[in-house]
Amino acid sequence: MNPENLSPRTIAVSAGRPTGDGAPINQPIVLASNFRNAPDYARTDGTESWQALEEAVGALEGGRCVSFSSGQGVASAIIFALRPRVVVMPTVSYLGVRKLLDLMQIREQLTVVQVGITDTANVLAEVERQTVVHGADKALLWIESPTNPTLDEADVTALCAAAARAGVRTAVDSTFATPMGQRALRDGATVVMHSGTKFIGGHSDLMIGLACTTDDAVHDALIEARTFVGATPGALEAFLALRGLRTLPIRYEASMRNATELATRLRAHPAVEWAKNVGPMLSFILKGGAVAADRACNAVRVVVQATSLGGVESTMERRQKYAGDAHVNPGLIRMSVGIEDVEDLWSDLSAALAS
Ligand SMILES: Cc1ncc(COP(=O)(O)O)c(C=O)c1O
Repeated sequence: MNPENLSPRTIAVSAGRPTGDGAPINQPIVLASNFRNAPDYARTDGTESWQALEEAVGALEGGRCVSFSSGQGVASAIIFALRPRVVVMPTVSYLGVRKLLDLMQIREQLTVVQVGITDTANVLAEVERQTVVHGADKALLWIESPTNPTLDEADVTALCAAAARAGVRTAVDSTFATPMGQRALRDGATVVMHSGTKFIGGHSDLMIGLACTTDDAVHDALIEARTFVGATPGALEAFLALRGLRTLPIRYEASMRNATELATRLRAHPAVEWAKNVGPMLSFILKGGAVAADRACNAVRVVVQATSLGGVESTMERRQKYAGDAHVNPGLIRMSVGIEDVEDLWSDLSAALAS
């Protein structure tokens, strides 16, 4: 059956399974780097464990997927593969990618131009300016939406479509959106990436990265990047990520319900200046600034104070404490809302805010 006609819920459950009579229902973990009487080698040709995950994520995104050792590994591979001379990117976004691009700028490997990603007209004007200087084929529009940690939402459809018309490539970091929230390949994105470590894996027990594209040349360039950088996923990680993906739709929906309810209650709370959720991600700013935010993060008991996100368990932390996020509001707490009972989460959170 054509996956185009299936709902994401069905694709998440059914894609990437072995076929044929007697086949195991799940793709077994292939713990081999070497293969008998074949030129295949795991780093260059992949393994069936990775390929099953790639097939499923590719089916969900509507393209071909290449898996990597981590989300950061994907971001590096995209830059390696697309070789932009200039990258137009959000002012506020995931600090690991920003640091990578800053470092490359310091080494004079490319130029970075930061823009407010919600101002579509300004982003496109900047892309056009850079195109005149560097050439459309040497520019890359890097979109992260929603952004980490402020949850800014870009008009991904408009940006990807306009960039494609201008011959400019776009990379979309969809880690926070997941394929449940956004499928940017349909909008004309050149490549969509995920830190599969987060919602796709969903259990905080692995690191993996995923890149999807409909462009065969980009797909081959991503494989080449993985081969030469050597950022290959582990077989167990690929197995676990695919197992996690099976429940992504219901985890995403449950977490989003919780996050939406918590955001509503937080907005009405006297200690809270601002609160917003997009899907399961929730960011809020405390009126008491860094001191109040640190106190709340140290006081939670059900929610875990931790830096990563996307698991079944709720986590939160104050982001401005990181050097790379120094420009973020000092009182901002980024919370990844899990699938616990929302009343338990609210009791925990409201007690922490009163602490
Ligand atoms: C939006 C975003 N992109 C990429 C990454 C990097 O992913 P990983 O930690 O799997 O390398 C992260 C990690 O937090 C992230 O939040």
